[in-house]
Amino acid sequence: MIEPGPSVSPVASPSVSPAASPSVSPAASPSVSPAAGPSVSPAVGAPELDGQTDLGPGRLRPAWVEIDLAAIRHNAGVLAELSAPARLCAVVKAGGYGHGSAEVARAALEGGAGWLAVALVEEGVELREAGIDVPILLLSQPTPAAMSEVVRTSLTPTVDTPLGLEALVAAVREVKGTRPFAVHVKVDTGMHRVGARRDDAIALALDVERDPDLTLEGLWTHLAVSDELDNPYTGEQLARFDGVLADLARVDVHPPIRHAANSGAALWHPASRYDLVRCGIAV
Ligand SMILES: Cc1ncc(COP(=O)(O)O)c(C=O)c1O
Repeated sequence: MIEPGPSVSPVASPSVSPAASPSVSPAASPSVSPAAGPSVSPAVGAPELDGQTDLGPGRLRPAWVEIDLAAIRHNAGVLAELSAPARLCAVVKAGGYGHGSAEVARAALEGGAGWLAVALVEEGVELREAGIDVPILLLSQPTPAAMSEVVRTSLTPTVDTPLGLEALVAAVREVKGTRPFAVHVKVDTGMHRVGARRDDAIALALDVERDPDLTLEGLWTHLAVSDELDNPYTGEQLARFDGVLADLARVDVHPPIRHAANSGAALWHPASRYDLVRCGIAV
């Protein structure tokens, strides 16, 4: 199922999904127990399903969730080992996909992740306030108004427009902090969601390089169909990404952290791993 890496014990299921999927081994996925069902034994702390139980205000049905942090630790360990020497960035956006952002983040870090990623500045700040001090990548460009907070809390911003870069530069000059401040530029190689187009990304990367207060730590892209093993589109996207990297190399710009892989790519497309893999669902 997973290649390569014969010595690596696989993540139980790359498509980790809650209890609905019978193929997911509970030992290696966040285990979500359904409220009822003849084959399900009650979770620890679950209410008795005797029809009489007072579920408390606002709780009209007996539903609960159990998160197996040991499974998250395990999955992070498998992914880190599989992807090495690329490092693992655990994507813990949307409150760790509803499993608790700080708890999931800590478990993933204990398992072997070296980075975290979130979508929003608030999510990154929440992790900082929980005492987590590893690099936290923001997967979308922060609004200009949020840039000071990004710098103040040492989050790692993604930038994909000149306006975003301008706001970041202003914030870095205004807020005392680490300089040069690390930036990742996102290039759209075919996901067509966010990200700068090829020429714009190159111009942006060069602008970052030229700014003495900034450093171009990363260049990245997002893959649209990496979980479809035989779809040639992933290879096409990676070729476009390599093209951008080659253009930058020609002017002696070498972003040290190149990244493209989400879970499907980290598992099934080794060429996509570069220096960092960003895994959400497989963690
Ligand atoms: C930019 C980016 N990278 C990586 C991920 C993680 O993807 P997956 O859950 O497929 O690992 C996400 C998730 O939304 C994402 O937006």
